[in-house]
Amino acid sequence: MSGRDVADALIEAPVVTSFTRIGYAVRARLDDWRPLDEYDLAGRVIVLTGATSGLGKAAATQFAECGATLVLVGRDANRNEQTVAEIIDSSRNPNVTQVAADMGDYEQVTALAGRVLAEHDRLDVLIHNAGALTADRRTAPDGTEATVASQVVGPFLLTSLLLDRLAMSRPSRVLTMSSGGMYSAGLTVSGLQMSDSDYRGTEQYARAKRAQVVLNEMWAERFGSLGIHFHAMHPGWASTPGVDASLPTFSKVMRPLLRSPEQGADTLVWLAADDLPLRSNGGFWLDRRPRRTHKLSRTKNADTPDRRRRLWAWVSDTCGNEPTLPEGNRTTE
Ligand SMILES: NC(=O)c1ccc[n+]([C@@H]2O[C@H](COP(=O)([O-])OP(=O)(O)OC[C@H]3O[C@@H](n4cnc5c(N)ncnc54)[C@H](OP(=O)(O)O)[C@@H]3O)[C@@H](O)[C@H]2O)c1
Repeated sequence: MSGRDVADALIEAPVVTSFTRIGYAVRARLDDWRPLDEYDLAGRVIVLTGATSGLGKAAATQFAECGATLVLVGRDANRNEQTVAEIIDSSRNPNVTQVAADMGDYEQVTALAGRVLAEHDRLDVLIHNAGALTADRRTAPDGTEATVASQVVGPFLLTSLLLDRLAMSRPSRVLTMSSGGMYSAGLTVSGLQMSDSDYRGTEQYARAKRAQVVLNEMWAERFGSLGIHFHAMHPGWASTPGVDASLPTFSKVMRPLLRSPEQGADTLVWLAADDLPLRSNGGFWLDRRPRRTHKLSRTKNADTPDRRRRLWAWVSDTCGNEPTLPEGNRTTE
C-alpha cells in the first residue's frame, strides 16, 4: 500500500469526509487528477439520461466542452430543448440533441433506443444517470414500482436494445449512477418493490440502487467479452435540485459540505473519457478509484449467486427482453 493509498483509506472510512467536498478536494490533490477539459471527445457519441438537472446537466456541459456528440434524455421535451440550447450556447458545440423519454415507461425507452439507432451509427458511451428518490409510492405504466421501473428495469432494457451498437463501437462503456445510499441495503428480489403498506422512499431508493450495482457486475461478467465496459459509481453527496427536493433538511444542514454538481459528476465524466476504466470491467467507483460494494456483513451475506440470477431473470421478464450475445460479435477485444 502506498502512502497515497493509506491517505485515501483514511478519508474513505468516515462517510462524512469521503462523501462531501472534503473527500473530493483531498483526493483530487492526492492523485493529481487530470483536468476534465484536457480530454478530447470529438467523434464520440454519448447518450446521457437525466441531463436536464443536477449531476447530469453538469456532466453534459463538460462532455459538450470536450467536443462529444450528445443525446440528452429527460422526460419533458421542452425542458430538454432548453437544456440543449443552454449547452450549445455555452460550449459552442452544435452536436447536442435530445430525446424525451420516461425511463420507467418501457414503450418510451424502446422508442428512445430506436431514435439512437436510427440517428447514430456508433455509440461510445451509454450513461444511466436519471434518478429520483420519491417520498410517496408511485407506479410505472406496467404497474412496477416507479423507482425500480425507472432506475433498474428501464435502464436494463435500454442497454439490451443498444447492445449491438455498443459492441460495434468497442471499446465502449455503459455507466450507471448509483448512490452511496445502496451501502445500507442488501440485495433483495422479492422485496425489491416495496408495497403501499411498508413503503419508505429512502429504503426503496437504496434497494433499487443496490440492484443497479449488482446488475452492473452481471452485465460485465456476461457481456464484457464484447468489449463493452460496464461501470457503476456513486457521486458522494452533491447539492442538486434532486437532493433539495427529496432530502430538504439534509440539504439545508449539510449545504456547506456538499459537493457542487460538477464535483459530483467528475468521476462520471472521467469514467467516460479516460483510458483507465477500459482496463477493467464491472467496477464501482468514487473519486476516480474503484471502491468495495459492501461495508456491512449483512448486505454482503444477502448478495448470493442465486439471488443475482433471480434478479436478472425478473428484470428480463419484466421488460420482456432477455439480452443475448449478438451474432458475429462473440470475439474478445
Ligand atoms: N446529488 C446527489 O448527492 C446524489 C447522491 C447519490 C446518487 N445520486 C444519483 O445521481 C443521479 C442524478 O441525481 P441529481 O441529484 O442530479 O438529481 P436531479 O437534479 O433531480 O436530476 C435528475 C435528472 O433525472 C431526470 N429524471 C428523473 N426521473 C426520470 C425518469 N423517470 N425518466 C427520465 N429522466 C428522469 C430528471 O429529468 P426531468 O425531470 O427533466 O425528466 C433530471 O434530469 C440520480 O440517479 C441520483 O439517484 C445523486
